[in-house]
Amino acid sequence: MDYKDKLDKTNIPQHVAIIMDGNGRWAKEKGQMRLVGHATGVESVREALTAASEIDVKYLTLYAFSTENWNRPKEEVDGLMDLLVNTIANEIDSLNNNDVRLLTIGNTNDLPNSCRHELLNAIKRTEKNKGTVLILALNYSAKLEIKQAIKGIAEKYKKGEIELDEINDELIHEHLYTAGIPDPELMIRTSGEIRISNFLLWQLAYSELHFTPVFWPDFKKEDLYRAIYEYQTRERRFGWIGEQLNELDKND
Ligand code: IPE
Ligand code: IPE
Ligand code: MG
Repeated sequence: MDYKDKLDKTNIPQHVAIIMDGNGRWAKEKGQMRLVGHATGVESVREALTAASEIDVKYLTLYAFSTENWNRPKEEVDGLMDLLVNTIANEIDSLNNNDVRLLTIGNTNDLPNSCRHELLNAIKRTEKNKGTVLILALNYSAKLEIKQAIKGIAEKYKKGEIELDEINDELIHEHLYTAGIPDPELMIRTSGEIRISNFLLWQLAYSELHFTPVFWPDFKKEDLYRAIYEYQTRERRFGWIGEQLNELDKND
């Protein structure tokens, strides 16, 4: 089935977030080293990004490295950092040709210097692009993000810059890494795991969740279109009841 052609073009999510999982198991099934899975996963990043751009998804957030991932064997962590540096360096022209802007979320200051350097360079060189915004979650932890936001807000309160009553959803949003970026309407996780793993805890409050058994290196454009197609069949109620939403639709 060709899901792309079946999509309702008036209901494309603005922001799709993906937990790219299953690289290690994909490699193991093939009798390969885990790093082969990560390297093959880069091809799926291209697939997902091209697919998102083709249907005008404005923001695509990809969870690439969590703060917990530092606990992995050193050779895997080193391999992932090398892969990141090389991929970013190799892809800048392609990002520019496709009008893609690169951003990151997470504590990227604590990444190795070579990674930070490549990332800053790529962010700078793509900053004027107007197409899809690719947001890489790197050294990312949602709990840390929330903790940092709370500290930032507490600091302002202490200095008398804000009142307690001014601490609302908008102010919290402004203190997150994702300040200025709308919350994802859709979050996808590959590899069959059904958990959030410390990803975008605040931002996913009302996201539709899509879990697929496909390992990330096998993820193709059609998998993204299928997830969006299924998303379009959902009724997003935000606490209301279906009949109320139907009434609102009628009055539109
Ligand atoms: C996701 O694949 C990539 C990263 C977390 C960096 P995994 O490496 O977690 O693959 P599995 O879950 O072990 O199969
Ligand atoms: C989540 O995957 C992090 C990334 C995809 C970068 P993990 O494979 O690290 O998550 P857990 O440990 O299975 O929850
Ligand atoms: Mg995993």
